[in-house]
Amino acid sequence: MTKAMEILNGLTLEEKASLTSGKDCWRTVDIEGKLASIMMSDGPHGLRKEENGSTVPATCFPSSATIANSWDEDLIYRIGEALGEECLANDVQVILGPGVNIKRSPLCGRNFEYFSEDPLLATRMASSHIRGVQSKGVGACIKHFAANNQETDRFSVNAVIDERTLREIYLSSFEEAVKVAKPWMIMSAYNKLNGDYCSENKYLLTDILRDEWGYEGVVVSDWGAANEPVDGVKAGLDIRMPGPVPSANNAIVEAVKSGELSMEELDKNVLRIIEIVEKGIASKIADYKADMSAHNELAMKAAEESAVLLKNNKSVLPLAKTDKIALIGAFAEEIRYQGGGSSCVNATEISDLLKAFDDKNIDYTYAKGFRTEDDSINDDLTAEALAVADKADKIVMCIGLPFRMESEGFDRWTMSLPSNQIELFNKLSALKKPIVIVLFQGSPVEMEWSKNADSILAMYTGGQAVAKACVNLLFGDANPSGKLSETWALKLENNPTALSFPEKGTATYSEGVYVGYRYYDKKKLNVMYPFGYGLSYTTFEYSDLKLSAIDISESDTLEVSFEVKNTGSVAGKEVCELYVEPTYPSVSRPVKELKGFKKIYLEPGEEKTVTITLNKRSFAYYDVESHDWQVDTTVYNILVGSSSRNLPLTASVKVNSSRTSKTFFTTDSRVYELNANPIAKEALSKLLTEDLKLDITALSIDLPLSKLVGFSGGILSVDMLDRFVASLNEKIK
Ligand code: GLC
Repeated sequence: MTKAMEILNGLTLEEKASLTSGKDCWRTVDIEGKLASIMMSDGPHGLRKEENGSTVPATCFPSSATIANSWDEDLIYRIGEALGEECLANDVQVILGPGVNIKRSPLCGRNFEYFSEDPLLATRMASSHIRGVQSKGVGACIKHFAANNQETDRFSVNAVIDERTLREIYLSSFEEAVKVAKPWMIMSAYNKLNGDYCSENKYLLTDILRDEWGYEGVVVSDWGAANEPVDGVKAGLDIRMPGPVPSANNAIVEAVKSGELSMEELDKNVLRIIEIVEKGIASKIADYKADMSAHNELAMKAAEESAVLLKNNKSVLPLAKTDKIALIGAFAEEIRYQGGGSSCVNATEISDLLKAFDDKNIDYTYAKGFRTEDDSINDDLTAEALAVADKADKIVMCIGLPFRMESEGFDRWTMSLPSNQIELFNKLSALKKPIVIVLFQGSPVEMEWSKNADSILAMYTGGQAVAKACVNLLFGDANPSGKLSETWALKLENNPTALSFPEKGTATYSEGVYVGYRYYDKKKLNVMYPFGYGLSYTTFEYSDLKLSAIDISESDTLEVSFEVKNTGSVAGKEVCELYVEPTYPSVSRPVKELKGFKKIYLEPGEEKTVTITLNKRSFAYYDVESHDWQVDTTVYNILVGSSSRNLPLTASVKVNSSRTSKTFFTTDSRVYELNANPIAKEALSKLLTEDLKLDITALSIDLPLSKLVGFSGGILSVDMLDRFVASLNEKIK
């Protein structure tokens, strides 16, 4: 018997019930002499531990949207380690993150806190984060499970999602991270999913999470997300937060006494809580000190690795340290380094760009240029900015999304930047001087107005050390290597959700699997900057794509290797991306999907071989008939390159499904289904041409066999057709 079992057996019914809600806003219930309490606190990109009316100083790392642009699993692991260390130093046993909700719309106010529009990238980033945190004996809590893709009406909106879309997109961003990284906790989302609140959704919390994925950790509700207590216990919710909620505890006690809830059902949940508490207590390290200066340095490195160079005409970047710079824009001073809401960190250090420029002894003059409090144009600020720019060699304009435009708790109402920033840019670019835009934002913005910009560097919400990282990148002390983890559409209206997002009451995910690049590719839409795109100060060349086989069964793995060479003059890192394109899918599928990636470092002239391994899931789609992942027997193109729209290497592999062709036909089978089976095709052809003298034209390939009776002019009866189908199934057995 485990220690946790012993503790469980020593608890009264009331004590057990008390564990199913928090002790307070952040702690689990402790039971005198039997069980201690552990503390949870927010994340995801820094520790937000509430204390004495404030929150403890902690390292504010780049937000998830930003760090996902690094595509660097090792870097994210190291950030996870640092988060774990700061939790140990502050006696916190679980940090509430990462958030992995898919970016269905660029307007979701919380997208700065999520990784990607692509589930593979999101789940790989999340897995690294979780493993890093938990390597320190601190728990991570992946969230918000599931389909929390808007802030509007978030506490009750019903996300209506078809099974295939749910599996391929919205659960996939959790699945691998849950199975591989095994987070101590998973947080049930506020919203409903297909009619049931996530916190009481048995299909989600038990059928999928526990029975199918084998999850053994604790399900904790989002704060205030739990509803009917007994339904919650039965569905698989372990702890409702915050607490205490005596009424819920009493309802559980009464339900056990009345037999509505069995003690075994309650014990399952309570045992999981005890196990996590014991794990957290066992990992405590008294007087642990985290190296905050090292963490600040890591935050700076992470911001460097995550920044995305979107444009660099005439190689205006990197700037020379001798350039006379006009540093324009309020964001240089009021630097936007994180998002708003529960993830807000009390950062240990914040530097602005002015100080970072000073530290590099750059000859610059700053002008605020515009207000961030609203979109109004201030003539004095404009005049000052133009005057400063007029005297400079080059212009660096710092713009972005102010806190008021994106945060937890509300969705963005536009994909545009504030008009006063664009207006000022137009005036500055009219000076015909080299002009660099630096963006500080947590999600994509419309950029068609930026044609006259020579260079554009997106820093996103880059964390407390973003200023130093930005200046290192601007002046070439670091080489940009970020790639977009989300598409930047030309305009909001090109996004399929723009027709209705955000919906109140019921949000119908009618775009299905066509989220992000999956949609823009399928519609062959131009985009401003594609998924996976980012420039460098050097160049890379891809060559020599090889596959370990060209004809495999679905259970085989496939080794894909290729060469990448740094053909430029400076060292750099390249994110190599691999997409799979099914040639003749049996269902509507995205043109291609990301199925692997690697980030590599190359010195000038250096060449490396990159290998990525594919498996069944790399080729599969979710089949709603069999409720399982299936592979079509067809040819798949393997596409490799530097972005979703720059894939110079292609090779093909035939994958043979282990799914035997339909082992039986019925009178509802379609003509095309029989034609796909040589034996059935021959039998049908004989029936049609010899017996019925019927010419099935191409218009009829979708015809159910049962319709042949009506077309046979009385020759074919229902019984005869039944006998035909029975004999056919005998033949193909
Ligand atoms: C918030 C957020 C969740 C956070 C929790 C505790 O409402 O949705 O991400 O961890 O409450 O602050």
